[in-house]
Amino acid sequence: MRICVFDTAQQACKAAAAMIASQVIRKPNSVLGLATGSSPIPAYQELIRLYREGILDFSETITYNLDEYVGLTEQHPCSYHFFMQDQLFDHINIRKENTHVPDGHSEHLDETARAYDEAICAAGGIDMQLLGIGRNGHIGFNEPGSQFIYGCHVVNLSQSTIEANTRFFDSEKDVPRQAISLGIGSIMQAKTVLLIATGKDKAQAVHDSILGDVTPQVQASILRTHPEAIFFLDRDAAALL
Ligand code: GLP
Repeated sequence: MRICVFDTAQQACKAAAAMIASQVIRKPNSVLGLATGSSPIPAYQELIRLYREGILDFSETITYNLDEYVGLTEQHPCSYHFFMQDQLFDHINIRKENTHVPDGHSEHLDETARAYDEAICAAGGIDMQLLGIGRNGHIGFNEPGSQFIYGCHVVNLSQSTIEANTRFFDSEKDVPRQAISLGIGSIMQAKTVLLIATGKDKAQAVHDSILGDVTPQVQASILRTHPEAIFFLDRDAAALL
């Protein structure tokens, strides 16, 4: 595992974007695992800039997103489907059929989750997985618990996640209580994992992930056992290291 600390969030995200850019240049049909949340937004902006400058071509790139809220339609402005279109896909030349976000609106969520894992496997697995981190150390929506769950699954969101994500909704009661999330297995099978953590709200989770025990209570701590995991941190997120 490597830890890179930058002065600003912008610099941390730019460095992560450079890794993704080099992956896409080396292998145009890369399978990228993508994340939502506010942390990766500057990285997506940098990828869009590189595309507009003619440096990147996403026409063969395949993406699988980490997670989606249960019960929101693709058009809901707080859905991760909407987020990805709005923040990245609408601004680059990726093919719609090559982008994948779990269907949180499915009537058969367990089946949907199983099919999502199978599709990733059939695509050859994830080459490069981008992650944010929750204030409680979650990755995707793998919440603190008694075990690491291997496959894509339906999650009951923890109260701390509901509170942290209320800022995207009108009020706390509008935040979905469940999500569908890639499991730790697919994340750990990615050849390279990039985690972006910025801001002082993430300092404790970053500290516990890097310096605490490897434990399902802090899901990101499993990344310490990944041979190619890189943490991109700004000074605030690295403050407790
Ligand atoms: C959500 C997402 C995570 C993300 C986390 C942190 O819970 N499921 O994938 O890492 O939020 O979001 P932010 O970067 O906005 O702090």
